[in-house]
Amino acid sequence: MKGLILSGGKGTRLYPLTYTRAKQLIPVANKPVLVRVIETIRDAGVNEVGIVIGQTGPEIREAIGDGSRFGVRITYIEQPSPDGLAHAVKISQDFLGDEPFVMFLGDNVIEGGISALIRDFTNHQWNSQIVLKRVPDPRSFGVAVLKSDQSIEYLVEKPQTPPSDLALIGIYMFDSTVFQAVNAIKPSRRGEYEITDAIQWLIDHGSHVHAHVHDGWWIDTGKPIDMIEANCNVLDELTPGIAEDVVIEHSQIDRRVKIERGARVINSIVHGPTIIGEDSLLENCYVGPYSSIYHHVTLANCEVERSIILENCTIRDTDARLHGCLIGRNVMVQRKLEKPRTLTLNLADNSTLWLV
Ligand code: TTP
Repeated sequence: MKGLILSGGKGTRLYPLTYTRAKQLIPVANKPVLVRVIETIRDAGVNEVGIVIGQTGPEIREAIGDGSRFGVRITYIEQPSPDGLAHAVKISQDFLGDEPFVMFLGDNVIEGGISALIRDFTNHQWNSQIVLKRVPDPRSFGVAVLKSDQSIEYLVEKPQTPPSDLALIGIYMFDSTVFQAVNAIKPSRRGEYEITDAIQWLIDHGSHVHAHVHDGWWIDTGKPIDMIEANCNVLDELTPGIAEDVVIEHSQIDRRVKIERGARVINSIVHGPTIIGEDSLLENCYVGPYSSIYHHVTLANCEVERSIILENCTIRDTDARLHGCLIGRNVMVQRKLEKPRTLTLNLADNSTLWLV
């Protein structure tokens, strides 16, 4: 069994963060989503992993390397343009050969791992296994209708009137028959080779496509609100702990808090689940539940909760509590104390700013 992780794409829904960073490298609870995906695949016993990369390839190569740090062997597969998930499979044929494989979208986070799924797939004669999740509004997903034996009868992409509430999420298992499908299908109306079309092709040509309905949480970190939600779910599973050299003075630290090496917490309150990254400084702060503060961040005279703050940010002297924020690298947010007391903004294209 091999692994295939899709980390090409443009990440337009996460602009402006994804102008300068691959979305799969944005951390959730201080660990990049892509690393979480690699670890999930590794923990299921799969060590040979291909990563499909696009224009953010150099950054992904630099962050992940040859995979030895994570206990896997990585092969990078370059996709010239993001022409769809089935296109990503098509260009990975040389790497995958005749072996069955698990394909995982590089921006997905799932509860509970995939070991049982891989075991089920290898113990049955299915050509494919697709992971589904019941969702309240399936209109923006591929939607599946099942037969009584849990195989898929048919799929519809983003239906106006969904025939079921079973949405396809970003985890698929295939044997090598999938290459016949991805080589036979044509691009859809939006110009992409759709994985749902490839799966439908398999069904139409007599393949057995099994459905697994996932019970736990699953998050596609496509939009800022999804990143915050994924961060909350992952923080709920946080193993608390305070690194040895952490400095804590005149502060209250909750039980479910993790503080990494070299951090300092002075005259502050930290409520968990929360993670504070390496060499960050909190001074006269309240950091509330569900916050991930990455490394080398300075928070002074401010309040933050339910937020993700990336490396090297400084937030200082703010009046309002920051809530539900996703803040990129090297950002400064500071109350202007001198006159004129204007709002002075230097925002990237497609930034969002809510004022109170
Ligand atoms: P999407 O979220 O569907 O696309 P995207 O990453 O371009 O984001 P947006 O819609 O905000 O512009 O992609 C899901 C995952 O699959 C993501 O990790 C990128 C990857 N992908 C590829 O590797 N190749 C592709 O051709 C496409 C469409 C996506």
